[in-house]
Amino acid sequence: MELPPASFWPDLIRLPDTGPRDGEVWVWSFPTTGGPFLPRLEALLNDQEAQRANRLRSNRAQAEFVSGRGLLRLVLGRLLNCPPQAVRLSTTGNGKPVLAPDHSNAPLHFNIAHSHGMGLLALAGHAELGVDIEKVRPVGDQDSLARRYFHPNEVQHLEGLSGEVERRLAFFHAWTRKEAFLKATATGIGFGLDRVEVTLGAEVPARLVCIDNSEENARGWTLQHLEPSNGWMAALALKAPCSRLVTGHARLDQLTG
Ligand SMILES: CC(C)(COP(=O)(O)OP(=O)(O)OC[C@H]1O[C@@H](n2cnc3c(N)ncnc32)[C@H](O)[C@@H]1OP(=O)(O)O)[C@@H](O)C(=O)NCCC(=O)NCCS
Repeated sequence: MELPPASFWPDLIRLPDTGPRDGEVWVWSFPTTGGPFLPRLEALLNDQEAQRANRLRSNRAQAEFVSGRGLLRLVLGRLLNCPPQAVRLSTTGNGKPVLAPDHSNAPLHFNIAHSHGMGLLALAGHAELGVDIEKVRPVGDQDSLARRYFHPNEVQHLEGLSGEVERRLAFFHAWTRKEAFLKATATGIGFGLDRVEVTLGAEVPARLVCIDNSEENARGWTLQHLEPSNGWMAALALKAPCSRLVTGHARLDQLTG
């Protein structure tokens, strides 16, 4: 199934020397299918990360982790003016990778997502953020997943859509937006996807409608719909304004060459 044509994301062939300006958010896609860049990115991981990569069972999962973590280290090393291997990362209680507190003089927030050969890395200086990406594809138990995980208003909206394509797109609107929100808060799926209501459907902009049925709780959040490439849908969430969104396709072959 084809999504409408993706908005144009230029190739990123050189890393910036300075981080996102206040209010700015960068979102870059990157390939996770492997290639000559993969061993070069693997060389940037620390011992713990290399061991984790080796423990991953499938080549696909290894390539996803190595490409995302390697690109992250490459970018953070450049912005923090240190070798990529020297960037210190830690994780929150729910496993969200963050910059270690000893880098607190250079506030940089980031989040990674991957799906079926494509990854996303989002970076901002002014707020924690979350991204999710999904390949738009048939999901066999789409309706039961929606009933299990989505807010009742979202389920009602989905059930009111008659066309298969329209319904699938709306399902992925909800999925990516809710996941991006959960990832921004670092809570993960345990928070309860049904506690969050988002807009869905192509005719309305992405927006966080309610948290725990309260519009007040949702105030101040930015939710941005993204289409990095035809056939993929993504979302960005942050509890702050986004004054400028800078998107690009990270050319890992050139960035690591
Ligand atoms: C932890 C979680 C974010 C994983 O999500 P996922 O969809 O499997 O994976 P994504 O590709 O979106 O994101 C993975 C990345 O998120 C980051 N991450 C891990 N834990 C995180 C957390 N608690 N918060 C934010 N980001 C997190 C990591 O960088 C990870 O990549 P890495 O392991 O290569 O470093 C969690 O929300 C989850 O388990 N989601 C399940 C998705 C689902 O079933 N949705 C049903 C919708 S109908």
